[in-house]
Parts: sequence; C-alpha cells; structure tokens
Amino acid sequence: MIKPGAVHNKHIGHILSKIEEAGFTIAAIKTTRLSLEDAAEFYAEHKDKPFYQELIEFMSSGPIIAMVLLKENAVEDFRKLIGATDPAKAAEGTIRKLFATSKSHNAVHGSDSDASAERESAFFFSRREFLRSDEVIASMEY
Ligand code: CMP
Repeated sequence: MIKPGAVHNKHIGHILSKIEEAGFTIAAIKTTRLSLEDAAEFYAEHKDKPFYQELIEFMSSGPIIAMVLLKENAVEDFRKLIGATDPAKAAEGTIRKLFATSKSHNAVHGSDSDASAERESAFFFSRREFLRSDEVIASMEY
C-alpha cells in the first residue's frame, strides 16, 4: 500500500518507479480509500498496540494505493526496498528514507509474510482483478 501521506504529497509515481526498477511486477493496482472500520480490520493484529488508534485514523484519512506485487522472494525483497518502519532508521535509498515523514506516516506498507500477503491481497482484490504468476511469466516472454 502507498499510504495517505505519500499519496497526498504526490509521491505515487516516484514510488511506483522504485518498485518496478527493483524488479517487481505490479499484478494488481487501484486507488481506494479505507473507512475507519476497514483500517481497523486490516490492522487488527495491532489492536492492542499503543499506536493502533493513530494508525487507523491516519490510514483512513485519505486515498491509498493498494497493489499486489509479484517477484521471487517478494516479501523479503520488498521489505528491503521500503526500509525500516522508522524512516530515521531506514537505509539510504529506501522508499521510507526518501518519502516517509515519521514512523506512523511512513509512506508504504508491505506484507510481513506470504500468508499476510495472501490475506491482504484478498482484502483489496478479487481473484479476477490480478494476474496469476503464470500470466506474469507469460507477459514477460511477450
Ligand atoms: P506498517 O508496515 O503499515 O505496519 C504497521 C504500522 O504501524 C507501521 O507500518 C507503522 O506505520 C505503524 N507503527 C509501528 N510502530 C509504530 C510506533 N511505535 N508508533 C507509531 N506508529 C507505528
């Protein structure tokens, strides 16, 4: 997901370029907006954390870009590309170092496991809305 702050600051294009340059294929993409209830459901695993309320209010404060990304080793490689949760600790050149303004306004979200990626993809997209990996492989050969 590209979060509301990065969308508001017109960083969508730059972030998509970084994602494609890093070798990811965008298998699904849409602009949408989360209600407070949507954000609460999406981030339910954090509901006991002190930052939960701030997180769900921010994530429902404006449009977001939801994506399904494909790549070998996608979860780990995407986490490397985006950098640490706190942009102050993120490595040079990472998306959060470049575009995040704080730990809560940290530009992007990435799934933390293949299981989360499945769940989070299904949260935003129906099966008919994204390419399967065999279709992506076919499109690369095109
Ligand atoms: P994200 O990858 O979307 O997953 C959970 C989010 O909670 C995380 O990015 C941060 O934006 C936010 N978050 C995690 N830790 C903190 C914190 N200590 N203070 C504020 N927000 C946090």
